[in-house]
Amino acid sequence: MDLRDLYQEVILDHNRYPRNRGEVEGSDAEASGHNPLCGDAVRITLKMQDDRVVDIAFEGQGCAISTASASLMTEAVKGKTRDEAEALFRTFQSMVTNTDPEEQFDDLGELAALAGVREHPVRIKCATLAWHTLHAALTGDREASTE
Ligand code: FES
Repeated sequence: MDLRDLYQEVILDHNRYPRNRGEVEGSDAEASGHNPLCGDAVRITLKMQDDRVVDIAFEGQGCAISTASASLMTEAVKGKTRDEAEALFRTFQSMVTNTDPEEQFDDLGELAALAGVREHPVRIKCATLAWHTLHAALTGDREASTE
């Protein structure tokens, strides 16, 4: 199994069995995001403690890439500080918009499974929808768009 197959497996698994799907009870931040290109939407709820994301969940309807990306995102940011989560968003965004196929993003762990979307520009919005929504929730905005 090469890296591409492995990444494909990660995306399929997170789409089939999304992690942290639903709503955080007693959340203290939330935002809704949508992708105007397709109308798909996601809602993120999260709980902060000492500037750290201690719980996070997502709900909404989206394509396989946006669902897998939201699932992977919730796993990646749980336990991170606000700044660490924002830094991860920037690195992730750089990965999916990067046009250099040789550049490696191994330190992103399972999130690197979405690196392939950079070859499909329309899919970049699918992969970043949940991240834009997280950013909105962390900065006090309640709405996000991939536009
Ligand atoms: Fe709508 Fe992917 S097609 S988010």
